Amino acid sequence: MAKADHELEVLSVKHYTDRLFKFRVTRPRTFRFASGQFVMIGLEVDGKPLMRAYSMASPSWDEELEFFSIKVPNGPLTSRLQHIKVGESILMSARPVGSLVINSLKPGKRLFLVSTGTGIAPFASIIRDPETYERFAEVYLTHTCREVAELTYGKELVKELTEDPLCGEFASQLTHYTSVTREDYPFKGRITHLMENGKFFEDLNIPPLDAENDRVMICGSIEMNADVQAIVEKNGFAEGTQREKGEYVLERAFVG
Ligand code: A2P
Repeated sequence: MAKADHELEVLSVKHYTDRLFKFRVTRPRTFRFASGQFVMIGLEVDGKPLMRAYSMASPSWDEELEFFSIKVPNGPLTSRLQHIKVGESILMSARPVGSLVINSLKPGKRLFLVSTGTGIAPFASIIRDPETYERFAEVYLTHTCREVAELTYGKELVKELTEDPLCGEFASQLTHYTSVTREDYPFKGRITHLMENGKFFEDLNIPPLDAENDRVMICGSIEMNADVQAIVEKNGFAEGTQREKGEYVLERAFVG
């Protein structure tokens, strides 16, 4: 059972669909993290902390913390967390962790952030971090969801980036590529298929993956991670860690 070290006030809540919502909370002054990391957050249930892993969706410089969550109807935590209101509080552990950080990647020219569903959360942090654009000339954020409405959070993020005081000047370095699998949409299909058949690269009019200059960060379900991992490994990419940098890193999008 994870320890609840902080109690944080909820500052805003926004629901996107019946499956997705975001919320923002106060950030403890002592809490420092690298964009892309995660922490345990939760609620007290039956007198005990019920905690799950959540990626910080806000960048490391932000005074508040943002989280983007799925709502699982019978999920022990999210069935409760989805009803959270402004002024109420959530619990958070003290220590941020995770391998989905730019420091685990070798220097490169293009950075591909490949996400499905709530897997966009750590990338919401990374695309709002100026360091990302200082390290990579071109940043490609891909987000694939079942339905069009599930893309809204990411579309808002990218739109707001242009007005962001810290990152606005870098917005031209970011390309957002969205695709949908279970509804009509101009870009249809799983990102794995779109990469393998080359459509993703054709749509953006960019060269295919190249392990020499490209770096990849992956965040989705276990199956999605494994399938994208297989594609990049076939292209000669090696997984990086904070000790030994590589060409790609991955983290699973947490559900519960
Ligand atoms: P699909 O609709 O074909 O299952 P989920 O909500 O289940 O995590 O799915 C989010 C998105 O990720 C969906 O568009 C889904 O496509 C896609 N997806 C699921 N599994 C994989 C996988 N193994 N590789 C690539 N994309 C996947």
